Amino acid sequence: MKFFVDTADTNDIRELTATGLIDGVTTNPSLIVKSGRDFKEVIAEICELTDGPVSAEVTALECEAMLAEAAELLKIAKNVCIKVPLTIEGLKACKALTDQGHKVNVTLCFSANQALLAAKAGATFISPFIGRLDDLNIDGMELIEDIRTIYDNYGFETEILAASIRTANHVKECALAGADVATIPPGVIKGLANHVLTEKGLEAFLADWSKTGQSIV
Ligand code: E4P
Repeated sequence: MKFFVDTADTNDIRELTATGLIDGVTTNPSLIVKSGRDFKEVIAEICELTDGPVSAEVTALECEAMLAEAAELLKIAKNVCIKVPLTIEGLKACKALTDQGHKVNVTLCFSANQALLAAKAGATFISPFIGRLDDLNIDGMELIEDIRTIYDNYGFETEILAASIRTANHVKECALAGADVATIPPGVIKGLANHVLTEKGLEAFLADWSKTGQSIV
């Protein structure tokens, strides 16, 4: 499963890409406003930090206007991936952009039928929002499982990009359900390496090692 980092904070992206574990980045208008930075400037900086796809979201509602915004965003770098909302207009823009060979992430997916439409529109990625469904007491992971089944039934190549991930358990469950990608907040990615027994075990090994009086280098 690929890991994208879900943020527009370039310090976090720089720190995480240095681990070699990051395959791309997703942003959205809320993350851009949180960064307090100019949209195109921050996307350009992120695109220099990773070779993977960097999702930049259009804000127009009509297909033609979305395509005009996409054309501007695509000038920024070759790894820009255009993010469009899951609306009929967004799907029309998706089809037009993927027909031109561009990568498209269809966002704000909350049902299997929406994911089916995105695949038929040639989406590179479909972004089902797990956490926002869980917030409503609807099982977000069931949606990932349903989309996996549907895409496998018909051999769709659209990648399932699990989004709105809030916990380490979400990451594990996405991997079990067969999501192709998970886009994860920086804090959750960093937390995945933690285990109390790892810390305890390392402490004990180092204490014993110091008793040997040896050094490896
Ligand atoms: C990513 O592409 C989405 O915009 C993001 O994961 C949404 O997460 P949220 O529901 O925590 O805002």
